[in-house]
Amino acid sequence: MDLVFQNTFQGGPTVKKKVVAYERVEKPVLDQLKETYDVQFFKNIDTRSDEEFLAHLKEAEGIIGLALNVDKQLLDHAPHLKIVSNVSVGYNNLDVAELTKRGIMATNTPHVLTDTVADAIFGILIATARRIPELDHLVKSRNWNESLTNEYYGVDVHHKTLGIIGMGEIGCAIAQRAHHGFNMDVLYHNRSRNETAEKTYKAKYVSKEDLLKQADFVLLMTPLTPETEGLLGLAEFKMMKNSAIFINGSRGKTIIEKDLIEALQTKEIAAAGLDVFEQEPINHDNPLLDMPNVVTLPHIGSSTHETELKMSELAAENLIAGLNGEKPPTLIDESVWKKLNS
Ligand code: DGY
Repeated sequence: MDLVFQNTFQGGPTVKKKVVAYERVEKPVLDQLKETYDVQFFKNIDTRSDEEFLAHLKEAEGIIGLALNVDKQLLDHAPHLKIVSNVSVGYNNLDVAELTKRGIMATNTPHVLTDTVADAIFGILIATARRIPELDHLVKSRNWNESLTNEYYGVDVHHKTLGIIGMGEIGCAIAQRAHHGFNMDVLYHNRSRNETAEKTYKAKYVSKEDLLKQADFVLLMTPLTPETEGLLGLAEFKMMKNSAIFINGSRGKTIIEKDLIEALQTKEIAAAGLDVFEQEPINHDNPLLDMPNVVTLPHIGSSTHETELKMSELAAENLIAGLNGEKPPTLIDESVWKKLNS
């Protein structure tokens, strides 16, 4: 990786611009940033009260990291901030309207993680349908002592109906795998129609209710916004087939988690595969952890060695552009750029 740094200082001793880095930024990227900027890296701290963090933030012109909650309160501690560079595609941790109001750019890392997340979601879907973690446990715990009967069987994935709520770039990559790889029928529901999905993957646009009623696999891929918070609750789980498998690859708060637990306990649905949870890391007493028909991942859909590095590199490019007063490649709200240049 070669990040292009531009030193905007002319003459005199160079004062390095201050940057707050917050977990997770890959080390090679962090090391390169440190060559040019005064980067302070923080991990596992209370960002509301950590004195060192707040002191650095007071001088910082840039923030780079994953899931730092950037709201009015935090911004009041950051008077010199020019850019907040998120190392994730989701940006529900950022108050984008407030950032724009203050003329601060916000960026995320779309595109570079699309196929990686789609692979992970397909992985968890298959793992849930074929009960792979449960059966792996059976084998490794030395309990495979006879030929197994139908109580251990899973269900087919191929030729089934996949319903995708949220047909953005990642939803489309999942539809591609479903259509071309598994001969699945794809239904989708989205704010707007997706021509690529319809033409290339024969995805059929349906209402949310029809999707919930018809799909064998219901996959939630929407970003978390005020409109999608609690999008699926008990009423929606009850609409699904009793044999339905629910997969959440979006954010924990797009569903009402206690309602999912109830739907699983009362067998309204058959199983769930979850990469995201209301509380992360998940509370150890969460009933989902004791359900054999629930496959869990620790919010790791985009996290492969290759893709985390690409995400950190893109986030660093965004950061550097913002620090230099240039337009970052993946700016979230274009209107801030107009505002800064008017
Ligand atoms: C993303 O990029 O949004 C992933 O979910 C990691 O947060």
